[in-house]
Amino acid sequence: MRIGILGNGGMAEALGRHWVQAGHEVLVGGRDLSRAAETAERIGATSGSLQEATSYGEVVLLAVPAEVVVEAVTRLSIAPGTVLIDCTNAIEHSDFTLAQPAVAEAISEAVPHAQVVKAFNLAADTVWRAAPHVFEGGPLGVPLCGDEPAAVERVAGLVRDIGCEPVPSGGLVRAALLEATAAFAIGIWVTGGDVRGLFTPLGAA
Ligand SMILES: NC(=O)c1ccc[n+]([C@@H]2O[C@H](COP(=O)([O-])OP(=O)(O)OC[C@H]3O[C@@H](n4cnc5c(N)ncnc54)[C@H](OP(=O)(O)O)[C@@H]3O)[C@@H](O)[C@H]2O)c1
Repeated sequence: MRIGILGNGGMAEALGRHWVQAGHEVLVGGRDLSRAAETAERIGATSGSLQEATSYGEVVLLAVPAEVVVEAVTRLSIAPGTVLIDCTNAIEHSDFTLAQPAVAEAISEAVPHAQVVKAFNLAADTVWRAAPHVFEGGPLGVPLCGDEPAAVERVAGLVRDIGCEPVPSGGLVRAALLEATAAFAIGIWVTGGDVRGLFTPLGAA
């Protein structure tokens, strides 16, 4: 699959490396061509501008800050049907709330001809870089929210490519819950808490 990545930072490098290793053709797009080229070289991808990455990818990972992502996709020419993976978190770091709610829905409203899937926002780039992980005998689950089943399935394949388990989690209307969950969990982690025991299986005694 041809994958474009907007951004050349931590998430671009962590996820892009896995996808290159899985046999995908990845183009890292940056606003600074030399930084994009450096990241691409480290992971065995090609590089170019933000528009080149957008035009290249059947799937495009939006790995830029949440506060600029809507403006960025609005400025770019995006082919109808392109799958946009939104991994952003608009976290207000003073109190670990959301600086901006429902980013994925805002992206979809800005480019309604694209198919937005929220994914990969719940764990840090270091976690993705070190994937796959096994917890209590099972792989790390990756919730996916999107309205188009075919788009969600494409992203599910990219989740499996990094050794994780896709967890279809409803339509894009539920993506805001994933964004809030990330803010909630990070707020607990940074104060020394541990979120791993917070969710028990249904029916657990
Ligand atoms: N890092 C994590 O652990 C993590 C986990 C889950 C989700 N996320 C989300 O993933 C996204 C990317 O995070 P990251 O850690 O990869 O960030 P990062 O390392 O800071 O990289 C951000 C990238 O966005 C680019 N960028 C910044 N402003 C831009 C603009 N106005 N137009 C175009 N490109 C711009 C930067 O370009 P320059 O190089 O030119 O500055 C850089 O390539 C964020 O939304 C973040 O919330 C991150």
